[in-house]
Amino acid sequence: MIHLLHKLRTGKSVYHGMYGTDLWQYVDEHNGAQDAAAAYPQSGPAFDIHLIIDHPCWSRAGTFVDVGGNTGALVESLLAAYPRLRGTLIDLPTFAEQARRRFTEHNLSDRATAIGQSFFDPLPAGADVYVLSAILADWDDDSAIRLLRNCAAAAGTNGTILVSEVRLTEQLERSDTGMALWVEASMENPDRTAADISMLAERAGLCVTDVREAATRIALELRVQ
Ligand SMILES: C[S@@+](CC[C@H](N)C(=O)[O-])C[C@H]1O[C@@H](n2cnc3c(N)ncnc32)[C@H](O)[C@@H]1O
Repeated sequence: MIHLLHKLRTGKSVYHGMYGTDLWQYVDEHNGAQDAAAAYPQSGPAFDIHLIIDHPCWSRAGTFVDVGGNTGALVESLLAAYPRLRGTLIDLPTFAEQARRRFTEHNLSDRATAIGQSFFDPLPAGADVYVLSAILADWDDDSAIRLLRNCAAAAGTNGTILVSEVRLTEQLERSDTGMALWVEASMENPDRTAADISMLAERAGLCVTDVREAATRIALELRVQ
């Protein structure tokens, strides 16, 4: 497998060996978000997404930020489920552009905004919920803590951070070893448990107020301590 040894030697994802940068930066710079959106125009959120959509945090929320929201599938689903909710998507510029297009096409522009920026830069402040779905797996602990601190700074003491990670390798190990190996090689940390994420949260000055688990996903609700 290409650059598998890079992961074994350095712990960094194979994409660092292949491209000298992380996958998403590379895709963004090569306009791959547009290609992906063209290939999968109706793709929706997946992997036990009900853990996010049905989470009790939405009952008290009016606004949210989808941090690393890709092309807007989760924002669209949340807005469909909660008619009073308004969302802001943050992603790298070409992904945000695709999200903006989706929101316009689906008549959501009055409730959904997409901003093209790095999620390591200051985030829009004061939203009720900051969602990170399938984000932390791509980052080492120091970067994950930096991102959580950035969310905490924007959320303040009134906001909630909902971290949800997709966990596939245990199941894939039994059914598709090649795919399990690829997931392991292409991400920095695809196997963090709820306890691992709780430790990152604590180091970012956050406390865990709720933990939920399904077959392929975990979700932790965090608040500023
Ligand atoms: C694995 S995808 C998850 C997408 C979506 N949240 C989901 O649940 O399917 C990771 C997302 O993070 C975005 N991303 C990666 N690095 C980023 C950065 N520095 N700033 C903003 N977004 C970034 C990627 O473009 C991608 O859309």
